[in-house]
Amino acid sequence: MQPNQAKKRKIIVTAGLPYANGNIHIGHLVEYIQTDIFVRYHKLVGNDCVYICGDDTHGTPIMISARNAGITPEALINKVHQEHSKDFADFYVNFDNFHTTHCEENREFSEFIYLKMKEKGLISETQIEQLYCEHDKMFLPDRFIKGSCPKCKAADQYGDSCDACSSTYAVTDVIEPYCSMCRNKPVIKKSTHYFFQLSKMAGELQKWISEGHLQPEVTNKLGEWFKDGLRDWDISRDAPYFGFKIPGSDDKYFYVWLDAPVGYMASLKNWGARNGRTFEEMWQDPNAEIYHFIGKDILYFHTLFWPAMLMTSGFKTPDKVFVHGMLKVDNEKMSKSKGTFINAKTYLKYLNPEYLRYYYASKLGSGIEDINLSVKDFLYKVNSELVGNITNIASRVAGMLNKSFDGVIGEMDEEGRALYEKCVAAAPQIGDFYEGREFSLAVQTVIRLADDVNKYVDNKKPWALLKENAGECHKVLSAVLNCFKNFMIYLKPVLPKYVTDAEAILNVKPLGWRDIAAPLSGHKINEFKPLMVRIEQEKIDGMISESKESQKTFKAEVKAAEKSAAGKSDKAESKTEGVLNIAEIAIEDFQKVDLRVAAVVAANDVEGADKLLQLTVSVGGTTKNIFAGIKSHYKKEDLVGKLVVVVNNLKPRKMKFGMSEGMVIAASKGDKMSLLTPMAPIEDGAKIS
Ligand code: 2FM
Ligand code: ZN
Repeated sequence: MQPNQAKKRKIIVTAGLPYANGNIHIGHLVEYIQTDIFVRYHKLVGNDCVYICGDDTHGTPIMISARNAGITPEALINKVHQEHSKDFADFYVNFDNFHTTHCEENREFSEFIYLKMKEKGLISETQIEQLYCEHDKMFLPDRFIKGSCPKCKAADQYGDSCDACSSTYAVTDVIEPYCSMCRNKPVIKKSTHYFFQLSKMAGELQKWISEGHLQPEVTNKLGEWFKDGLRDWDISRDAPYFGFKIPGSDDKYFYVWLDAPVGYMASLKNWGARNGRTFEEMWQDPNAEIYHFIGKDILYFHTLFWPAMLMTSGFKTPDKVFVHGMLKVDNEKMSKSKGTFINAKTYLKYLNPEYLRYYYASKLGSGIEDINLSVKDFLYKVNSELVGNITNIASRVAGMLNKSFDGVIGEMDEEGRALYEKCVAAAPQIGDFYEGREFSLAVQTVIRLADDVNKYVDNKKPWALLKENAGECHKVLSAVLNCFKNFMIYLKPVLPKYVTDAEAILNVKPLGWRDIAAPLSGHKINEFKPLMVRIEQEKIDGMISESKESQKTFKAEVKAAEKSAAGKSDKAESKTEGVLNIAEIAIEDFQKVDLRVAAVVAANDVEGADKLLQLTVSVGGTTKNIFAGIKSHYKKEDLVGKLVVVVNNLKPRKMKFGMSEGMVIAASKGDKMSLLTPMAPIEDGAKIS
């Protein structure tokens, strides 16, 4: 489709919804930037295009993350929503709506779709056996089981795959499995689950696939799955679960992957309500185009389950599912220990986000092969192409035009006009490349044209012409700036901020595709300001070394959390020496902690625990039971009658030995430990602030 098409196309574009319990990293950004470039292109050519996304908020990992953080899942997903929104905005990923799956629109759509599945006899009930933790009172997803790898015997591996030998296996094969939260051995327990009978949809799905909605490589992959036969899909999870309750059941919830893609519809509807558009007029319009961008790891969900859900419930199925490969760094999986697992925030401390946008664009095509970020190539491409070639064009001529010609662009010479016409003539080709997601070809085309322009400048030598023939010099500068103006239009989907800055220098309104064939003439530009500087190797080194450090911190924190969850110590694990990247908290966060003076009423040994003492404390007349890991530092008889400091509103924790209803505060360094106590006697129950 050519950009000068008469009719505006209506296009709904989605990118995968990120889980609401993790940071956005450079691996995620491949997809959000790819999709953003596609959407920005369509907006630039004047299409009615809307970019829809949101957080994927449900499921066990989010529920447990919230529990570990001592907050509600709602508080966690709200906090993460703010962080994600900021990370995306900082990379100029311009969603029309970044919503959430935890919303009423999503509940309604999910229930509607489920009830249609049921009505059509596509839901069956089957009793299944699963690992269950009697301590945590919940069924454990594979990721919450740990144990030794059945292949290489490495200890402490996840229930589905081994980090040491990279093998994947069934959770039932794990040697000596334990619950990753409490370290107890899980038991096998039966429960009834609801299944969506995907097998009954095989014919309709095959027809849909044959209609060309997918890349050829993806269609081939699906062929293999069809050969093996489609398996029915378990869409229910037992309480406790953070998600939507299944209508007609008391304690069953939709599996997160059921309501996650429905979140696309919910986010669109929510956007429409605030922008005078309706869901029906958008999603259900037969002429509207629906495109999903996804990674190849979530192919099954988007090319089988999702179209089957939509078909069953009478919603329009996607026109295209665009699958991309995964990010590799220097040809390897992103690695925390090598510092190549780089969070968006860490990247931004060191580097300009548009370096990454440009680099990804220069690597992306329409295929599903992995994308390799070679650090050397990244440095080279940004410095030589973006700075040395494109940026150089403007810096070579804009200053001279301002100094010697009052900043006014005039006529072009014959050669310059021919060059400009060549730049105009490239538009349909570049447009097709963007439309076909061949961004690397779009960028390459611009770079080749920019090479020609730089050569033209080298040959014409405007700095020498200025003295010999000022009129000719003016024409050369005018031609170069007109070519540069077109490069800005072509690169606008990739470099939105850079092009906005260039528009300010060129003194033009926001450029659109329609401006390609309109040269600037008799037009005064503004003062030149550098558009982009070179990347320095030290910045990359700093970013990698900070990513390695934060990994060490993360590991220390996980270890501490695991130990604490295992009841090995009753004080917060602060044994890591020094202060490690402690996150800032607001005063309101601190005020949530109810610190009180408490009087120790009794202290007793705990049978079977070498390090624990059982303390009975009085807090303003209320008696509490607290297990504290202080036995090697204090004699129990010395503690009775002493005043200590406790966290009074800590959620009671069930430990092996009984309930612990608070936490005694102690300072520790190395092997030393000292309980905190008021400097002067004061009544127990006194508030500490
Ligand atoms: O794999 C993931 O990160 C999922 N949160 C993607 C969900 S995409 C859509 F289905 F919501
Ligand atoms: Zn457990």
